[in-house]
Amino acid sequence: MNLEDIFATTLFDGQTVFITGGGSGINLGVAQCFARLGANIAICGRTQSKLNDAAAMLETLGAEVVAQAADVRDMDALAEAMATTESQLGPINVLVAGAAGNFTAPTEKLSSNGFRTVIDIDLVGAFNAARAAFEQLRQTRGCLIFISAGQAQAPFEFQAHAGAAKAGVDNLMKTLALEWGPYGIRANSVLPGWIADTEGLKRLAPPGSEHRIADEVPIRRMGDTTDVGALACFLASPLAGYVTGNVVAADGGMMLRGSGIWTQVIGAMLAETDASG
Ligand code: COA
Repeated sequence: MNLEDIFATTLFDGQTVFITGGGSGINLGVAQCFARLGANIAICGRTQSKLNDAAAMLETLGAEVVAQAADVRDMDALAEAMATTESQLGPINVLVAGAAGNFTAPTEKLSSNGFRTVIDIDLVGAFNAARAAFEQLRQTRGCLIFISAGQAQAPFEFQAHAGAAKAGVDNLMKTLALEWGPYGIRANSVLPGWIADTEGLKRLAPPGSEHRIADEVPIRRMGDTTDVGALACFLASPLAGYVTGNVVAADGGMMLRGSGIWTQVIGAMLAETDASG
């Protein structure tokens, strides 16, 4: 998709977009879309070297970039990264809370710490990011975009941790749409479907399953990170100035089918893992 033929390349000129987990995957794809439409970008994640590589790429798109390591579970580190962002790029206009962790596990084999770890990264991390960004977003009358997941809407087997976390994220999003609407802050979630070449896909589907998955998607293809980024850009733009409190899917219609195909694919992956060791 050639975003530049669709949106003005000045759409986010002078705006600061902060993306948690922005060093790779869907989140980096979202960062690229905002950069292509004029935004300056701040990214955080756990690994500075990964962030540096992502920053170099985003700079080639014309963005000024802040790339500062911060684990979303660490409120102080996040607050510090956001303070650096404000001083170098100006206050945050758009926060994309995308940092996530996941793995497949039958619940009877999932430890309490395994469950808690995913809740901490996905749900507490989303809260931390929103909370730390609040003062800057209030200043800019900015917006929040949370990255949700199909598991939040339909239960997937072997995803008790991620499903509970992402359902919590969507509820948090709606609560913030209510509470922070009076400050001019909008909040929405983007729900990606099967997105090719991402860490999330690698963790949830066995290699070589892409064709089978694509055949199950009503639109009959896997998504790419631009499908998700374009939706995020729309939601952050004045076109969506009256849109708040929604979960919007970029999934080719996948969730209309519920969780059946996901469960089959994830089950096949677990069976393969069991067989190999
Ligand atoms: N199955 C069952 N439990 C698992 C697991 C798996 N595949 N992977 C990790 N866990 C458990 C660990 O055993 C540990 O629990 P324990 O102390 O009871 O043994 C707990 O989860 C924490 O694991 P740890 O590796 O210490 O956590 P971490 O904070 O270093 O890493 C993860 C977080 C586990 C989510 C890791 O997969 C990660 O870093 N993911 C980031 C990237 C990612 O997932 N991207 C996809 C997004 S969709």
